[in-house]
Amino acid sequence: MSLSTSAGTVLDHIDLADPQLFALGSHQRVFRFLREHEPVHWNPEGTEPGFWSVTRYEDCLAVQKDGATFSSAGTNTLGPQRWTGDEGSGRMLTHTDGPRHTELRRVVNRAFTPRAVGALEPYVRSVVRRSLDRALEQGEVDFVDTMAMLPVASIAALLGVPEEDWALLLRLTSAAFGSADQELQTSPSARASAAMAHAQLLLYCQDLMDQRRASPRDDIVTRLVEAQREGLLDEEGAMLFFDLLLLGGNETTRHGAVGALIAFMEDPQQWERLRADRSLLNTAVGEVLRYVSPSLHVLRRAERDVELHGRLIRAGDDVAIWHSSANRDERVFDAPDTFDIGRAHNPHLALGSGPHYCLGASLATLELRVFLDELCDRVGSATLLEPPTRLASTVIAGFKQLRVQVRPA
Ligand code: HEM
Repeated sequence: MSLSTSAGTVLDHIDLADPQLFALGSHQRVFRFLREHEPVHWNPEGTEPGFWSVTRYEDCLAVQKDGATFSSAGTNTLGPQRWTGDEGSGRMLTHTDGPRHTELRRVVNRAFTPRAVGALEPYVRSVVRRSLDRALEQGEVDFVDTMAMLPVASIAALLGVPEEDWALLLRLTSAAFGSADQELQTSPSARASAAMAHAQLLLYCQDLMDQRRASPRDDIVTRLVEAQREGLLDEEGAMLFFDLLLLGGNETTRHGAVGALIAFMEDPQQWERLRADRSLLNTAVGEVLRYVSPSLHVLRRAERDVELHGRLIRAGDDVAIWHSSANRDERVFDAPDTFDIGRAHNPHLALGSGPHYCLGASLATLELRVFLDELCDRVGSATLLEPPTRLASTVIAGFKQLRVQVRPA
């Protein structure tokens, strides 16, 4: 295949399953080309089995909303698990459809309503303050590290993990899920330590469930125990849920915040604008989500033959929904490559849509809103010390490292 971009570069071969494409930051150029010339694109078998990609906003929305035609029950992201099969298939919330999915979602959705999550705001603010103040004391930091605690501490509070265990949880979570960088994940030592940390996390969850069985509380782990009593989950299913909740909001939120700082460093006027007018905080969060799109894609499997833009997607084919491309679709967004914190029309798909719409959406937006607010209050300037290095990941749009010098406001 040979594709020409508007910049005149010729791309001889596009492999959207290749993490290096994302490490190089070339993906938006490729997506622009595909939206224009090949909105339904077949990625032939290479590093992983072949799959279709949809890149236009309207197609991403339609495929994601139609859970009956495009199932989540297989594997729901690209990656090596597509060769081996996904252990969560048909069991985890993210990997089920229809009534079973609704049933699983009901187990925990009360904990994620805007009201329930809103009660966490003072606590989330204290976590952000601590992280930023520590960075300001140090002066020169890796901002990817600075933002590590926020998502873990926030979800830990909802789960009911006692505060004295957060550091342990952060350590185990980082080791178990590691970086989304697929290069790091494939080294044998990284795989072994991830497996070990993962086993420890599951044991930790089991222990916490035993404690809640003896003395229930108003937290998610207690809810997971009740769901076992009600026959909705078995013990393993409850542990997988615990795992999913830790994982779901971890790197996504962290890289949302890191991406926001980069966007502000690239366009300091937007930072000044937000500093001067905090009524823009909500639109700024929406714009960070759209512009950064921390979750690059999700995967579905066609349940029947479907024709889209003249291409035949056969039953059993996988379809990648690139919301990171949809969020830059010029058919929907004015000046899509511009970071505009006051953007009025912003129906972004960064948190998905349809039945699997992000369960943690209220928590994610709370964390990002508080982060932006505190960033404006506390940090006067941030200067890049080295060019940032991007994650080699097809799943998360983020950075391995962001070395910056930060100064107080
Ligand atoms: C900026 C941060 C976040 C982004 C960009 C994000 C993105 C997404 C996306 C795109 C989906 C749809 C997946 C699909 O359709 O297969 C999703 C689902 C989900 N998210 Fe988030 N998420 C974020 C934060 C969080 C947080 C803080 C949590 C907290 C636990 C969370 C938990 C989940 C869960 C459990 C699902 C699965 C819902 C289901 O299958 O019904 N996410 N997220």
